[in-house]
Amino acid sequence: MAGIEKKPVKITETILRDAHQSLIATRMTTEQMLPIIEKMDKVGYHSVECWGGATFDASLRFLKEDPWDRLRKFRDGFKNTKLQMLFRGQNILGYRPYADDVVEYFVQKSVANGIDIIRIFDCLNDLRNLQTAVKAANKEKAEAQVALSYTLGDAYTLEYWVDIAKRIQDMGADSICIKDMAGLLVPYKATELIGALKEAVDLPIQLHTHYTSGVASMTYLKAVEAGVDVIDTAMSPFALGTSQPATEVMVETFKDTPYDTGLDQKLLSEIADYFRPIRDEALESGLLNPKNMGVNIKTLLYQVPGGMLSNLTSQLKEQGAEDKFYDVLEEVPRVRKDLGEPPLVTPSSQIVGTQAVFNVLMGERYKMATKETKDILSGKYGETVKPFNEEVKEKVLGKDAEVITCRPADLIPDELDTLRKECGQWIQQDEDVLSYALFPQVAVDFFKYRAAQQTKVDAEMADTKNGSYPV
Ligand code: CO
Repeated sequence: MAGIEKKPVKITETILRDAHQSLIATRMTTEQMLPIIEKMDKVGYHSVECWGGATFDASLRFLKEDPWDRLRKFRDGFKNTKLQMLFRGQNILGYRPYADDVVEYFVQKSVANGIDIIRIFDCLNDLRNLQTAVKAANKEKAEAQVALSYTLGDAYTLEYWVDIAKRIQDMGADSICIKDMAGLLVPYKATELIGALKEAVDLPIQLHTHYTSGVASMTYLKAVEAGVDVIDTAMSPFALGTSQPATEVMVETFKDTPYDTGLDQKLLSEIADYFRPIRDEALESGLLNPKNMGVNIKTLLYQVPGGMLSNLTSQLKEQGAEDKFYDVLEEVPRVRKDLGEPPLVTPSSQIVGTQAVFNVLMGERYKMATKETKDILSGKYGETVKPFNEEVKEKVLGKDAEVITCRPADLIPDELDTLRKECGQWIQQDEDVLSYALFPQVAVDFFKYRAAQQTKVDAEMADTKNGSYPV
């Protein structure tokens, strides 16, 4: 490879966020993560993705942990490494659009507690749903990375991706990520896509994919050759399957080439040694399903993300209609077309999937429509790349239904003051109102648990005091 200019590829490590979210339902605890952080900090990663996505919900709901406290502990431990989070645009880390004041405050507090890079995406790629978060990140001097939800379909031509990338550059983003949640980007398409983006914009380009369809590490190889700046990988014990390609494998692949990462394999292997028993334990307990580790070629055939496939299976099981699985899989692309051909990622994947199940089980399409289907057709999630199916829209909403075309959040009045009043009695730190805003019931349950723990600790302290200082 003589004559080729050196261009080391940078690595974002996902083991503390996406890897365990994808493989073990986001159940890795802070206690399991902290002992290895000092070592991870020495690797020289471009960044460590460690917060946001589903980790916030899972911490509060299942692990009874304060996600803000986890972030502060990461910040204490990672002295040299940038911390990265995933942010669902106007939906923040929740499932509905929030008022701008909540989005701004969440960004402010994320940065204040230690986040350096905020990866912001929207399930419809409607950039208006990203502008408040991007501006807030700019203001807090964090890196605002806009992620495009990658998908396939008539509308998603190379021109589409190039045009939207230019608009992202214009809106003040610091970098662009291609977020391929289903592993649909195949190697030679990556050459085309990355090549076109590098030509069209000056911003660094990062690629995020999943191993689900089995092509991911080849896709990274072609993307790196085409000039991608950063790739997302996971340490081997939590790599492959529905997670990312393995960090060590990609590091070895580019060794002694112009793209050499320069990362130390020995240090990486020590980190892998730490995580391997955690993986084994998850396999034994059933938390890690071996099914998640194989190649799922259906994701390519039906262009459905792996997580959505397992959701569909369980929805049909509940209804005793498992035999309808393939009917539903074939209905998914039809519903997606009716709803303007959106990418399938939270929450559009759930909306399309559930409606497809309804259409098949009711024996008549759109005999029943979910609230979310109605909302998407009313424009409440934003603008889709293609127009809606007018017939379907009329059947679902009625003839003279009111639809909106403005930025959806323009219709949501500021809500922080109301939220503060609602949860006032539980607040122990500024950030608590944000936990409450995202998951009101779950947050209050957590606040009660936290208060009970504190009472217990106080009582124990009093006991020890009495013991050591006899009256
Ligand atoms: Co992902």
